[in-house]
Order: sequence, then structure tokens, then C-alpha cells
Amino acid sequence: MEIKFGNLKVSEEAVKHLEEVVKTSWVSGGPKTKMLEKSWGNLFGYKYNIAMSSGTCADMAACMTLYDISNNSKVKPGDEIIAPALAFAAVGNSIRAAGFTPAFVDVKRDTMNIDANKIEEKINKKTRAIMAVHTMGKPCEMDKILEIANKYNLKIIEDCCEAHGGKYNNQFVGTFSDMATFSYYVAHIVSCGDGGMLSTNKKIVADVADSIKHHGRKPGSLYFDHLRFGLNFRMNDLTASVGIPEINNFWNIFNKRKNNFYGLTERTKDLEEFASFVEEQPNEVVSPHAFSVILKNPKHDYSKLYKFLESKEIQCKRNFGSMPTQHKAFEYLEHKLGEFPEAEYVGNNGLHFGIHQFLTEDHLDYASEALHEYFKEK
Ligand SMILES: Cc1ncc(COP(=O)(O)O)c(C=O)c1O
Repeated sequence: MEIKFGNLKVSEEAVKHLEEVVKTSWVSGGPKTKMLEKSWGNLFGYKYNIAMSSGTCADMAACMTLYDISNNSKVKPGDEIIAPALAFAAVGNSIRAAGFTPAFVDVKRDTMNIDANKIEEKINKKTRAIMAVHTMGKPCEMDKILEIANKYNLKIIEDCCEAHGGKYNNQFVGTFSDMATFSYYVAHIVSCGDGGMLSTNKKIVADVADSIKHHGRKPGSLYFDHLRFGLNFRMNDLTASVGIPEINNFWNIFNKRKNNFYGLTERTKDLEEFASFVEEQPNEVVSPHAFSVILKNPKHDYSKLYKFLESKEIQCKRNFGSMPTQHKAFEYLEHKLGEFPEAEYVGNNGLHFGIHQFLTEDHLDYASEALHEYFKEK
């Protein structure tokens, strides 16, 4: 038996869309991309949806909109965006690529999300926004984050790349702020291989993001007329063709994954003395992105667990690591190991594996048995 992180199956409906696209000689930003944007918007009630070539591009574009949409017109390269120390590296990289400096804040060990109580100490004159990342589908404490953002006049970008369909206080994540970003990478709930979306209810954000994804071009202009800093972040119609049926089938996929999440949570309850798992509180819906296991005691050896699960063909990924202190890529910020203890703990002691929609009850039994077998020795 094998448990992969995700699985892309191109549906028959997708093949029909692809055939239509292949017959045309133009795939960039065509009718399929528009169809995908519309379907996505209908899922969560967004007015404007700008398809991108990846979640990373959506994050970059979101950061780059700050140059135009911020209340503070003095936004300039080198300004800071608050971000969680622990998240997939795309978060820190996209902030940097957009010309900003990430100001990292430690996370809470149990939720893996930014510790809202530690945000204010990182705010200074250069702070322009907070990037709230709903890691592993677990919603951030949006009430606290909104309060801080209002107090200091900061924008919020919600990175929902791992949190499609999650809810906080009965409201979809990604609808608390000016803009939300999503990834359609293979392992994610909606997948089209590689792709992303920037969603918003604000016209100004949509107009600017749409221009940014075309090298800052003036919308509708017949000429190369570049108004702002932009890049090529466009999705194409071949990719959109694969994504459209996934979106139309969103709640079936979501519910199947949710079932897997609950099924595995139930099966591993007796392992609570060894490991913590993502918990769902009454005021939230955790998006079933993956199944996280964080060791409660480092002596139970993350790398052994990782190798053990991989030997059982359960494909694992590290719980990201602390961007500022556990990845060479962020050395330029000159942080020191020990500055982000919770992120570093999770980075050293946590892993996750897939709970995607193609798994069966047998797969869940298999994963649970593997975890029991490992911890039985401890
Ligand atoms: C939190 C987060 N942000 C951004 C991204 C980037 O998305 P992509 O891989 O589509 O570029 C990911 C990807 O998994 C992610 O998990």
C-alpha cells in the first residue's frame, strides 16, 4: 500500500475542455481561465478572482498590490510585511521577491499559526501588512489579527494556499481581509498541476493585481504601456481546463478529505501522549489539507519516524521548519537559532502526510497502524 501526498487525476470533463483549447491557437488568459475564475468566485462569494500560474505568484502579486492600494502612499521596497516564522518557504520568498522584507513572528506550537500575541512587538514605522497563513488548513486567530491591523492601519493578506474552504467564526478564511491567495498545486484540495488564485472583494485590488500579472500593463490598452511593477503571473487555458472540474466538484473532494481527516484523528486518539495532531475547535472548520504529527518528546526522534513512514511508502514532508533560523535561504536577515523556539520545535519534530480524496478506509487503517507500530516501541 502507498500513500502519496496528493494525486492528480485529469477528469473526462477536463479532457473535453483541453480538446476545445487545443483547437484554438491561443491559450493565454482565454475563456477557460475566465470560467475557472468565475467558478472559484462562486464557491466562497468573492467578487473578483485573478487566476495566477501558482500560489507563489498569487502571494507575490498580493504583496506587490501594496504599492498601489495601501492607505499609506509611502509604501516602498524594503518596507516590512509581518509573517509567521513557520510556513512553507513560498511565504518568505514571495515577500522578498515583491521587494519587501519579511518580519517574522513565532508561531504557536499547537496550531502552527502565527502567535497573534507576538505580532505587535514586531510592528514599526516600516510595517505595511500582515500575511496571515492558515497553515495545514487551520484558521489563524483572525479576530486578534484584524484588531491589530486596524489599530496600526495595516493591510492583511490571507494566504489560504493550504486552507481552501476552511472557516473561522462561521466565515470562510480568505474573506476577512483585502485579499486571499490560493494554490492549486497537486497536493492541494483543488489542483490543476500548478496554479493559483488571488481573490478579493475590492475592485481596486482586483484591477491592480490584474495589471501586475501582465507586467503592470494598463488594462485594456492596445499598446505596451506599463504603469507599475509587474511580472508574468498568468495562468493559461490548458491549466484552467484541468482545474475547472475540480472546482465544480469542490465540496465532494472537501468532504471526502474531511472524512479522512476525522477518520485518522479518531484512529490516533490513543497516541496523544506521543504526538499532537491538528485539532478543530467549535468555532472553526479546519480545511483537510494534510495530516500533521508533531512529536511531544524530541527523544521519539523525528528523523526515525520520517524514515519509518517512508519505508512504509507513506510519503512525508517536514513541517516546514523556521524560515528565519532553520533555512540557509533566509540567512540574509541575520536571525539567530533560538529566536523562534516554537517554529524551530515544530520544524525539528513535525511532519505531515497526505489525506487526499483518493485514499480509502484501508489507507487510513494502514497509516494509523504504521503510527501505532512506531510508537508502540516507545
Ligand atoms: C502556505 C503556502 N503558501 C504558498 C504556497 C505556494 O503555492 P505554489 O506551490 O502553488 O506556488 C504554498 C504551496 O504549497 C503554501 O503551502
